[in-house]
Amino acid sequence: MMQVLSVASECAPLVKTGGLADVVGALPGAMAGQGVAMRSLIPGYPSVLARADLGKVVLAEDDLFGGRGEVVEARAGTLDLLILRAPHLYDRPGSIYLNAAGQDWSDNPERFAALSWMAARIAREGAEGWRPRILHCHDWQAGLAPAYLRGLGIHDVQSILTIHNVAFHGLAPAAKLDGLRLAHWMFTPEGLEFWGQISALKAGLVYADKLTTVSPTYARELLTPDFGMGLDGVLRARAGDLSGILNGIDLEVWNPATDPEIAPYRSLEGKAENKARLLDEFGLPEGDGPLAVLISRLSEQKGLDLLIDALPGFLARGGRLALLGSGDKGLERAFSDLANHYDNLAVRIGYDEALSHRMMAGGDAILVPSRFEPCGLTQLYGLRYGTVPLVALTGGLADTVIPANDAALRAGVATGIQFAPVTAQALSAALDQLCALYAQPETWNRIQRNAMAHPVGWETSAADYAALYRTVTATP
Ligand code: ADP
Ligand code: GLC
Repeated sequence: MMQVLSVASECAPLVKTGGLADVVGALPGAMAGQGVAMRSLIPGYPSVLARADLGKVVLAEDDLFGGRGEVVEARAGTLDLLILRAPHLYDRPGSIYLNAAGQDWSDNPERFAALSWMAARIAREGAEGWRPRILHCHDWQAGLAPAYLRGLGIHDVQSILTIHNVAFHGLAPAAKLDGLRLAHWMFTPEGLEFWGQISALKAGLVYADKLTTVSPTYARELLTPDFGMGLDGVLRARAGDLSGILNGIDLEVWNPATDPEIAPYRSLEGKAENKARLLDEFGLPEGDGPLAVLISRLSEQKGLDLLIDALPGFLARGGRLALLGSGDKGLERAFSDLANHYDNLAVRIGYDEALSHRMMAGGDAILVPSRFEPCGLTQLYGLRYGTVPLVALTGGLADTVIPANDAALRAGVATGIQFAPVTAQALSAALDQLCALYAQPETWNRIQRNAMAHPVGWETSAADYAALYRTVTATP
């Protein structure tokens, strides 16, 4: 078995703010079938320490950025974890990234430098005899690990950085260079400097042996100024080392035939009961139009301001929408206000995993109007549950949905609806198409069945990661 250490700031089901957690939580299971033994190094937040079965301390440091840090072996279900227990960094209430005022914790650079540093130490010394061949780092929170490998002169452990979202750079002031244990020679535009600051993400992009992102289309988009968020030049320089590997979803957790949150179903007929329950739960009226659902972080990325513009037309055509989300206060308010004006719009502000399952089972369609979307998971859940995805033509949304254009409808292969460009006008047109297709039961059912048959598991992608692991370890 090839030994790989996955390094990340989130891991479902222990701690989650978004899709990163799902991917980090599912990857070890997916890779086990490929001859890869993966352990995951994650921060010891209160929720993690409370839910995992802790074992012994395998590595420790007395002054890890201001206090004692211990790497503790742990298990949670089938996950084989190394938890970085460092109360001065992680023992805090509330969000794992933000303080009570909604700002980044001021010591986020140190909090995730600590995680990356311990990953590099495990690569150097091993953890009680277990030593990885590869560090698989996720996003900026693990971005410094490849830089530390270089700084420590470790050449027999390779590193891969997976970009889940290039919007978050992990910036720190230059004055923290020594404090973050970074070598001065790295602080150049060719290294980890980004406009005079330290960028943890850029460190990973520059010093990791290989780069991946979570869909082939986003891998191409990242090379353009429109999507690269200032790092497209760095990425173009490394284009030969960058590939896109689609996320899968956990087929056990997201299984309409066994989901404990819903009235289980194997065929489309079973959705009716779930739809009735959902309408009831949200207090939405019966009607002839489609019931759309939306489950999302409320942020600029997700294109929800476009939906606010397009929604009145959809609701006027008899569409109904159940929305679950939290995040941007302005968007939370805007949707709540709208819900006061329309009977066929219901909004739940908050985060509710169980409710998200019931929505997926009861909805006719799931909306994902993102401006950019590295992969996106909710459209994949939608496919699996026969809840037709209506998505923007971008990133992973482009790679996972077969749009109902004339050719696809004629060939009988469509799985959803796509719109481009990502504007309110094009979204309105897509919502019109949703209403029109929904009004043709035969066509609609065909799309739903196609959706349910579309493969959304990890198999292909796990094989792709395994192939990448072999390539990176074969390079002398
Ligand atoms: P991102 O990671 O950019 O937020 P993804 O689509 O990859 O987008 O993943 C989002 C994950 O978070 C999905 O598992 C989705 O169901 C979940 N999620 C987002 N918002 C909520 C919410 N308010 N309640 C429950 N689950 C949510
Ligand atoms: C990020 C992206 C999302 C992706 C997830 C998991 O949060 O925004 O598109 O699905 O990471 O890779």
